[in-house]
Amino acid sequence: MTPVLLILWAGALTYPILAAPACSRPPQVPFATVDVFKAEYNVGEEITYQCNPGYIARSGSRKYICPLSGRWPSILLTCIPRKCLYPGPLVNGNIQHTDLSYPNSVNFSCDPGYNLQGPKTSHCQADGQWSAKLPQCQPVICPPPPVSEFSALLYHRFKPGNISVFQDKIKFDCLSPLALIGNEIAFCQADGSWSAIPECRRVECPRPQEIENGFINFALRRSFIYKDTVSYGCNDPYVLEGPVDSRCEKTGQWSAKPTCRASCQIPVKRATVLYNDQKVKVQDHLQNGIRHAETIWFFCKNKEHHCSYTAPAQCIDGVLTPPECFKERSWFASVFKTDIADLTPCENIN
Ligand SMILES: *[C@@H]1O[C@H](CO)[C@@H](O)[C@H](O)[C@H]1NC(C)=O
Ligand SMILES: *[C@@H]1O[C@H](CO)[C@@H](O)[C@H](O)[C@H]1NC(C)=O
Repeated sequence: MTPVLLILWAGALTYPILAAPACSRPPQVPFATVDVFKAEYNVGEEITYQCNPGYIARSGSRKYICPLSGRWPSILLTCIPRKCLYPGPLVNGNIQHTDLSYPNSVNFSCDPGYNLQGPKTSHCQADGQWSAKLPQCQPVICPPPPVSEFSALLYHRFKPGNISVFQDKIKFDCLSPLALIGNEIAFCQADGSWSAIPECRRVECPRPQEIENGFINFALRRSFIYKDTVSYGCNDPYVLEGPVDSRCEKTGQWSAKPTCRASCQIPVKRATVLYNDQKVKVQDHLQNGIRHAETIWFFCKNKEHHCSYTAPAQCIDGVLTPPECFKERSWFASVFKTDIADLTPCENIN
């Protein structure tokens, strides 16, 4: 044996005595591993903690040395999971998540009327990236709507190839003279079907009804169908109340049946009244009365202040009642006394 080897051998024998006390197993740090893990460490031996894949060191030192005391110092290192960025937003859909960090998953779902295209789930990987790329929510497609009985389909939104998708609207119109029964607008629904599609139907109306004291103008024909119109009129001096025109509606009924209203005789022999803002004498100008809905204003006397005021009377279908304050005068009084209509108007007093 050479002297050198002898010294090494002696050193190896004595070492355990000099090295005591030694450190035991280092404490476990959640989500971390130690580079050299064994049952016993010599004084001065260094260990390095390493966060596991998917975790990052947040605080504390990673390196520790076994001290003379043989007791590891308190290990302050903490490893926390790596966070992935929020993968959204998912347009027309929803991303279900509770925790966006490694190794958690998110789930993808679409709103009603949209189909998921792509993965249903994705997990946050150790490198901080999502395992799958964001899916898409594609709108449900509706089949082409039936067209045969319709003259026009007005697409509210044009798409390449005339594809109709969820929430698209179509407006229908029927070939004249067919009547559109139902809702003229249909929607592409979430389940890929159309909402109620209207119907085109031939609609007939009965002969329009005659009206009392009036007449109907219409072309002589065998039947009346949807959109045909007739017009009404009244014999003189009746006045039409209601619309002149009546139309055959989708319901098979006429839109209107007006009425002829009678004019009124003025039930006094002599009086000055206001008619169309003019003072006129009933006996001279209103012998034929007034028409339905017209109004005349009678003059009444305020005896206390010796002045005049007016009160209205309207003709309602042949009936006109003078106001209570009106007093008809005798022929004599009408000739020799001042006409009430010529007294000072009460609103001009004081
Ligand atoms: C994702 O969906 C699965 C299966 O339905 C469920 O077990 C899990 O809790 C969901 N995850 C989230 C974050 O909602
Ligand atoms: C789309 O619809 C319009 C109007 O209905 C029609 O004129 C056109 O030919 C259609 N195009 C295709 C590609 O079907």
